[in-house]
Amino acid sequence: MAQLPDGERIREVRIDALAYGGDYNPDQWSEDVWREDIRLMLDAGVNMVSLPIFSWPQLEPEPGVYDWGWLDRILELLHEAGIRIDLATATATPPSWLLRAHPEMAPWDADGHRLEFGSRQTYCPSSPIWRENVARMTRAIAERYGDHPGLAMWHISNEYGDHVSRCWCPESARHFRRWLQERYGDLDGLNEAWGVNVWGQRYTSWDHIETPKKAPGPVNPTKLLDFERFSSDAMLELFQVEIDVLREVTPDIAVTTNFMSMFRDLDYWRFAEREDVVTDDAYPDPMDPTSHVGAALNYGLMRSLKGGRPWLLLESSASATSWRDINVPKAPGKIRVESLQAVAHGSDAVMFFQWRQAKYGQEKFHSSMLGHRGERSRSFRETRALGRELRLLEPVRGSRVRSRVALVVDWDSWWGSSASESLPSQRLQWAPQARAWHRALATLGHPVDAVRAGGAAAGTPFDGYDVVVAPNLYILEQPQADALRAFVERGGTLVVGPFSGVVDATEKVHDGGAPGPLRDLLGVEVDEQWPIADGRTESLSYGDDVLEVPSWSEWLEADGGVEIRGSYASGELAGLPAITRRTAGSGSAWYVSAMLSPEGLVTVFRDVLRTAGLPARDEVSVQAEAVTRSDDTTDYTFLLNHAADPVTFRLPVAGLDLLSGSETGDTVTLDAYGVAVVATPRAAQVPFLTLTPTARPIQAAPSKELA
Ligand code: GAL
Repeated sequence: MAQLPDGERIREVRIDALAYGGDYNPDQWSEDVWREDIRLMLDAGVNMVSLPIFSWPQLEPEPGVYDWGWLDRILELLHEAGIRIDLATATATPPSWLLRAHPEMAPWDADGHRLEFGSRQTYCPSSPIWRENVARMTRAIAERYGDHPGLAMWHISNEYGDHVSRCWCPESARHFRRWLQERYGDLDGLNEAWGVNVWGQRYTSWDHIETPKKAPGPVNPTKLLDFERFSSDAMLELFQVEIDVLREVTPDIAVTTNFMSMFRDLDYWRFAEREDVVTDDAYPDPMDPTSHVGAALNYGLMRSLKGGRPWLLLESSASATSWRDINVPKAPGKIRVESLQAVAHGSDAVMFFQWRQAKYGQEKFHSSMLGHRGERSRSFRETRALGRELRLLEPVRGSRVRSRVALVVDWDSWWGSSASESLPSQRLQWAPQARAWHRALATLGHPVDAVRAGGAAAGTPFDGYDVVVAPNLYILEQPQADALRAFVERGGTLVVGPFSGVVDATEKVHDGGAPGPLRDLLGVEVDEQWPIADGRTESLSYGDDVLEVPSWSEWLEADGGVEIRGSYASGELAGLPAITRRTAGSGSAWYVSAMLSPEGLVTVFRDVLRTAGLPARDEVSVQAEAVTRSDDTTDYTFLLNHAADPVTFRLPVAGLDLLSGSETGDTVTLDAYGVAVVATPRAAQVPFLTLTPTARPIQAAPSKELA
């Protein structure tokens, strides 16, 4: 068993293969269907299923009266068939009797409305009654099945915060006050932190503090930020309630809760610290031909949350979802390339929601491995083929992605730049900015890891990377700036984006303005943020190029000795520096003061990478992706074609394609949605693949993924 940084051990998931399967809801079917399920699961190569996620009412139909019989029987059948069990604690949603007995445990929305039973997740994360019952149910399941030989790991709750991540009820208000007391000590501390002299908001009693419901005008930004932090922590406490029970009853079984990719509302760095393995649910939108680029950033985060250890793709869709306005199915071959993309990025599993397509209820139109046409459904044919192919990739299990570039993911800055109405512009926000920067790096050929803003201090050193980018570090404290400085001085390249180093953790503007604690390292000062009106676009000159500046610029002044790489070329700021670079120690620190178009970002990051001594593709392609996972002896380079047109990669060395079983030449051409996994002896430097110039640019469609 490995050790976590704080000495806590990590329990391994009990499965000796890449996991393949999905959510399984046998309680929606009669028992004669179960045997058919098992037969087809084995045919499809399924070796793990997740259950009984939403089955509390079926397991405890009345308070204290349990019905384990059906679960005993299906677990036995699965185990006999050699299918491992990702056993849920069944606490994803409360039974109606619990909610009716304790209506006060229902969540409230920001307008003060209590949410009604009849969907799922009808609970307030702070509710003591809910927590008590969750602990009770978890204990009952753990005591009954903790010794089950088929048990692979515990699946705690389900997608925390999917429907209810914030609650404005009276219980949440009481909990919020306790949280604030712990953070600020006394009311003076809170009043000082929230800057209450503005608009006369001084508090004279803790009881006067409410959850931030609708107010006559914009709400205090620090209160909003603290409510985001509190809400994430409230859910974390709820997670810990279950972890404590499971650690006590089954100290050797791994625990997880399934994440929702890059999810704004929960600080996954803190959640991941508590669990043994990171698991993720990924639903790239088939309507967006570039959604795999967003997925790559999500997966970069997933592998980084536990320092590069393999994670598990626990849910994905075999074809269409049913929760979008328009649920477009996946083209033939897309299931394969999207699933293998997750493996390329460090997942040791491919799992789906769900095994058998529902016959009724909210998700009956959601695709599944086994569609409504059963064995004859396309999704079954494609997932069966995938399950068989996955066995060929067994050698990659346990190996780790090697990446030279990392992007700072910081929930405080994300919340700070999106919770408040009182900002220079709503057009610059953390997530779209991070996605845009990542996209440029990805299309230039680099898989990107995520790093925590605190760097080494937060247990995730920057030091393994050549380039670290911080697209929008709005909230920044001195120790974080110190960690970035140390990275640069030791030879790293740091790129800081607009509206960074603006405020401290209580949202007070740093003395002298932005970039605050990074001022010396970057050698620049921002005089004014200068957002650009809708409908206007400014420009900046960058070497021989003119780059578009669509929504955000800054009045920037640079110290002598700072290299001006780009200057504003239009509007009020014409002639002022826009993009700068300063050397410090043996590294360098760049400041990019403008939001740029996708093409502009590619130009700048190609320059950044090459100046840092890293390769960057000449042939920019959204469709062609290469990612390398390595173990001690072997590099496994995944080549992925995310479009219907063929694409050709140039390989640094020829190798063996694990999927086709044949030797490659020095180029590999992939047809529509094609994949190759090329094994070569481990090289000192992670392989970098270029393309022959056949790839056509793909335009992104508007998508939730890009929001
Ligand atoms: C997830 C959820 C599953 C299922 C799936 C459908 O968010 O965990 O239970 O609803 O979405 O895409």
